[in-house]
Amino acid sequence: MSSQETGKTGSQQAPAVANSAGEWLQCISCTAAYSVEMVRYHCDCGALLTVARRQPWHERLTPEILIARQNSSDPLDQSGVWSFREAIVSLPRQSIITHPEGRTRLYSRSSLSTYAGVERLTFKHEGENPTGSFKDRGMTVAVSQAKHLGLKAVACASTGNTSASLAAYAAHAGMRAVVFLPAGKISTSKLAQALGYGAICLAVEGDFDAAMTLVQESADKLGLYLVNSLNPMRLEGQKTIIFEMLMQRGFKAPDWIVVPAGNLGNTSAFGKALLEAQAAGWIDRLPRLASIQASGANPFYLSYVDNFQSAHTVKAHTIATAIQIGAPVNYSKAKAVISATNGIVAQVSDTEIMRAKAAIDQSGIGCEPASAATLAGVLQLRQQGIIQPSDDVVCVLTGNMLKDPEAVLAATNNKVRPIAASLAAVEAALKG
Ligand code: F0G
Repeated sequence: MSSQETGKTGSQQAPAVANSAGEWLQCISCTAAYSVEMVRYHCDCGALLTVARRQPWHERLTPEILIARQNSSDPLDQSGVWSFREAIVSLPRQSIITHPEGRTRLYSRSSLSTYAGVERLTFKHEGENPTGSFKDRGMTVAVSQAKHLGLKAVACASTGNTSASLAAYAAHAGMRAVVFLPAGKISTSKLAQALGYGAICLAVEGDFDAAMTLVQESADKLGLYLVNSLNPMRLEGQKTIIFEMLMQRGFKAPDWIVVPAGNLGNTSAFGKALLEAQAAGWIDRLPRLASIQASGANPFYLSYVDNFQSAHTVKAHTIATAIQIGAPVNYSKAKAVISATNGIVAQVSDTEIMRAKAAIDQSGIGCEPASAATLAGVLQLRQQGIIQPSDDVVCVLTGNMLKDPEAVLAATNNKVRPIAASLAAVEAALKG
């Protein structure tokens, strides 16, 4: 990965547009610089932007400071995002909109290790965030930035989770939220969240990719602040999934980090976080990243098997509606991450996803279908001999079980048993 694709990790000359903290937006292709105070998602050359900084954050943020913050009563320290604030973007305190979020747990279960054939298998459950998905980590940063810039309306296209998160943070900030949803293609729970938190919900005819195109046009023409993951602020927040996981593990890098891949925001953010953590000396080697797609929504996988000669697009269809995306916006960042981490892209079928989901649900952890693509991916890569039984593997579960109740019922054979209101009926029902 060229250094600008993830943001440079060593000290560098700040351009004139840098803010007082020495931060700016940098094009990942031509390195043009823009002010972080500007509303901008792309460079004039068309490429994506990333947050760059003059001074590496590790000069100001040490593991000792982080450990002290774990027991602090400062509201920013209570957030698993803002406790890493030096590594995100500098915003005045009064602009920060935090629930708080993050501080999610790590789980291991012998049943899941047996399922995948990997003994050291851990799940970081991002479904434990306030709105039930990892999106809250990026959203707190994007909505805080919107507040800092004095903006009044925020918007996104979404397969469900981004809209739920945006709606919650916008409500907290007192901003108008407009969400563009592919009509009839998101789970009822996610829609209920967006409606309940008070967002204007537009059901767009067509798929997520059509909604994504429309929201970009609407943001430009109607003055809405776009908080999809092509907004570089989102990715700065999502880096903290990796920082927090490394901290929980005593800064011991795993061999693999496995993540479901849709719009490729996490894949991109994880790569940036890993390179920064390595530059900070937090880890002495880079884990390999495995990005797992559903086989019915596999444009990144197709590009990977094509040695990234081109950005493929597909008409996406999968039971894991969260990752039903055919034209991922973060393709160029994610592609660089796969090569920088000696990573891999795999695809798993809906059947493999639902089997893995049933195993995760029955272990008592639970997750939504997209998240279960991780376990399905580990099993497949293990069977192919790419992941070894002795490897240390961390999967990121991106959303919780109740995000998609229809899928929970589809993944289990367990049924409700109607009975008469009598002890005899209970006895009969428990027999056998
Ligand atoms: N897992 C879940 C539960 C998601 O909601 C998403 C994306 C992903 C994985 C994929 O992450 O885009 O960073 O590769 N959901 C978006 C949304 C697109 O609108 O909620 P990614």
